[in-house]
Amino acid sequence: MARATVIRKNAAELRVAPNLRDLDAERAAFSWDAARRELQGLPGGGLNIAHEAVDRHASGPRAAHVALRWLAASGGVRAISYAELAGAVNRFANLLRGLGVAKGDAVFVLCGRIPELYAAVLGALKCGAVVAPLFSAFGPQPLKTRVNLGRGKVLVTTASLYERRVKKVAGEMPTLEHVLQVDGADFRRMFDSSPAEFEIEKTVPEDPSFLHFTSGTTGMPKGAVHVHGAVVAHHATGKYALDLHPEDVFWCTADPGWITGTSYGIVAPLAHGVTSIVDEAEFDAERWYRILQDERVTVWYTAPTAIRLLMKAGAGIARQFRFPQLRFVASVGEPLNPEAVWWGKEVLGLPIHDNWWQTETGGIMIANTPAMDVKPGSMGKPLPGIEACIVHRKNSGIEIVGNDDVEGELALRAGWPSMFRGYLGEEARYRKCFADGLYLTGDLARRDADGYYWFVGRADDVIKSAGHLIGPFEVESVLMEHPAVAEAGVIGKPDPVVGEIVKAFVSLKAGFVPAEELKMQLLAHARKRLGAAVAPKEIAFAAQLPRTRSGKIMRRLLKARELGLPEGDLSTLEGPT
Ligand code: PRX
Repeated sequence: MARATVIRKNAAELRVAPNLRDLDAERAAFSWDAARRELQGLPGGGLNIAHEAVDRHASGPRAAHVALRWLAASGGVRAISYAELAGAVNRFANLLRGLGVAKGDAVFVLCGRIPELYAAVLGALKCGAVVAPLFSAFGPQPLKTRVNLGRGKVLVTTASLYERRVKKVAGEMPTLEHVLQVDGADFRRMFDSSPAEFEIEKTVPEDPSFLHFTSGTTGMPKGAVHVHGAVVAHHATGKYALDLHPEDVFWCTADPGWITGTSYGIVAPLAHGVTSIVDEAEFDAERWYRILQDERVTVWYTAPTAIRLLMKAGAGIARQFRFPQLRFVASVGEPLNPEAVWWGKEVLGLPIHDNWWQTETGGIMIANTPAMDVKPGSMGKPLPGIEACIVHRKNSGIEIVGNDDVEGELALRAGWPSMFRGYLGEEARYRKCFADGLYLTGDLARRDADGYYWFVGRADDVIKSAGHLIGPFEVESVLMEHPAVAEAGVIGKPDPVVGEIVKAFVSLKAGFVPAEELKMQLLAHARKRLGAAVAPKEIAFAAQLPRTRSGKIMRRLLKARELGLPEGDLSTLEGPT
């Protein structure tokens, strides 16, 4: 079937009048100061994310409104109102303060999607602590690296995650003073005896709030520091890009161990006072369709990998369900192929609306909003308050590309409230991200004549698997720990469902033979240390890995060879390979 290149929209035909009707007009009228005034602020001045997300609703007319509808993996459902959430958050905050957690201390959270996670994150924010959420599929090694980089004082986890992830490295995290197992009897006792009232720490917009780890090409993960003022952007983007309205039932499928799951699984929906669905279970096509149907989800925020998994599961399953309440679907994290946009229209009755952002941007920057015509394959247009452009890096600085349809690096005018304020302990690396007042994203893109942005690729070697960024260096380091491994080079190998899978090339030390059994051992070693989300899925042996003369493994070349692509400029290659 021939498909149009544009899906036309008519704002008047949308079931709910969109918050953003006319992008150009709203952009012209927009100011971040005005956006801030839509929030309450702390009594007597200051700003705290948890106050905007919970307290202002709990003390107003939305106190009894459901904040979280938690769907247990075992099948139970728990509805938690804003008032109840406020009580749990305050108990957690008191408990943390009682343990000596003060403003600026780092609280790490390694939990599955359970109600305690929400109380822990928001409670820590109320204490003025810096919250570092971690993905529960991280193995002991990524966990230890991050806690040590972030100088974690408290780790909030569960008994089973403690056993599987923490125990092995518990003695190797010297800054940790407390490990709380939220399903343990000791914790319960402390929690229940903590008061449900709490005097919030008087944070200001520039005080740190979250620490989110992200991966680069070289070195260990980078800790992107965010501030309380970011809530202004979360609220504004929740309004514009997700079109949240007070009676919405919103479901963000991302895990809060990643920034999408905190910015849009916790902060934005709560800041809007809407009901959020939290599903404890992992992806399952039938379960997900059932949730959309039975929970009467109105706005859904998910990821391309999930959409492709639903497509793969087949239309037969989808046809068993109905989604009359669903009115807006958005996706983020990886390129959304046009077929997926159209699949949405055919199966859900709505196109999927792609949007773009990064850990560093803290919130959605470029989006397809409800009233906008959608060009399948495009990420959309910059939101109000966001200035984007395409640039070329030159020896003497950068040059803004004036023409349409020219590929270059995507850049954003610095200064929006959710912009990261630093890479923890790496001032020079942070400064390198900026030039001439622009934040350089490291993504390649182009802009068309209508102002739509199109993703082209990443400018670096970082891997995107199922929407999660994976640093090749972290994986290579763990492989190198194995006694058989001489050198390791890790790349992202294109995959039709998850975007890329992690593939490792390994050369062996003298005395080791490249055999299937050793391959299995290496895969198991990596999985145990790194966890399933980060470990390689494939390993190939090579007699030697291509290196530059300065000794760096040329991942670009490994990838080109894997894909049968031209090998490009090999002038820096060392010796014969
Ligand atoms: O390469 C871009 C890709 O994901 C990167 C950001 O990943 P992360 O920091 O984990 O951010 C998570 C929050 C979204 C970007 O640099 N990316 C993100 N959105 C899109 C995308 N690639 C293509 N299309 C998108 N819509």
